[in-house]
Amino acid sequence: MKIALGIIGATGRIGKLLLSSALEDPAFCIAGGVAQKNSESIGQDLGSLISRPTIGAILHPQVETALENADIGIDFSSPSLLVEILDAALHLKKPLVLGTTGYSEKEREKIKEASQEIPILYSPNFSFGIALCLETVAFLAKNLYGDAYIDIVETHHIHKKDAPSGSALALAKAIGNGKIINNPSHSPRSKEEIVIHAIRFGETIGEHVVIFEWGEERIEIKHQAHSREAFAKGALKAAKFLIQKQPGLYSVKDLFSTVLYQI
Ligand SMILES: NC(=O)c1ccc[n+]([C@@H]2O[C@H](COP(=O)([O-])OP(=O)(O)OC[C@H]3O[C@@H](n4cnc5c(N)ncnc54)[C@H](OP(=O)(O)O)[C@@H]3O)[C@@H](O)[C@H]2O)c1
Repeated sequence: MKIALGIIGATGRIGKLLLSSALEDPAFCIAGGVAQKNSESIGQDLGSLISRPTIGAILHPQVETALENADIGIDFSSPSLLVEILDAALHLKKPLVLGTTGYSEKEREKIKEASQEIPILYSPNFSFGIALCLETVAFLAKNLYGDAYIDIVETHHIHKKDAPSGSALALAKAIGNGKIINNPSHSPRSKEEIVIHAIRFGETIGEHVVIFEWGEERIEIKHQAHSREAFAKGALKAAKFLIQKQPGLYSVKDLFSTVLYQI
């Protein structure tokens, strides 16, 4: 049986890639999609977004309608849609893959609460490379936190709405309980502070560099996403993983753990 997807943010950069990647994969079919209420795509077949013939699923203005015939919802849209997404998924008892970034602390709490009733996998970055970087920086931090200056430099395209990136915040969290400072203008600084420098430049898809510098030495861990397909493929892997799970809050660590520990 195919897994029927409800794609929230279907008209966006990642949404359209999700659509084309899912159609290439025999494990999936498309049940529906969500677009902005005032979008001219409302009511159209999702195939029209990626110049494909009709695929028999249409774009809805409401999340609940788009998820009605879906087995799972995948969201790459905006934090402003979170309450509607959680309400719909809780009402219909559908699992959710959440990829939107820029959630507040309060919104993250709401996700956690909802995960008591439905399975949710949230990640600000679905690439395998960032999952490996999270493990790597956690290992380095065990040896260096407090003794090295730690900086994270993240660069993204000029259309990105949030800063710093969710991935930079996740990397900082993996390093430890250090105080995070964004784009600092002051000095001197303490080695307990993790400094995040957010750069918005051209059409850069996503680049993260974590720098540990101490004494006469420096280690840099760098990840570059060459294509947004890395995120779409990771999110589809998450959908396959989550469909069999009990309610709970899952992360990419659960998703990639078997692969990570085989390396
Ligand atoms: N987790 C990851 O691996 C990962 C990777 C890349 C990006 N992201 C995050 O995913 C999100 C989307 O990224 P993107 O580059 O695809 O952005 P995008 O191209 O701007 O697409 C956003 C999509 O959400 C829709 N949308 C926004 N607000 C909405 C609302 N209130 N109601 C209904 N639909 C709404 C947009 O509709 P319109 O087209 O009508 O505006 C569009 O379809 C961002 O938060 C981004 O940071 C996550």
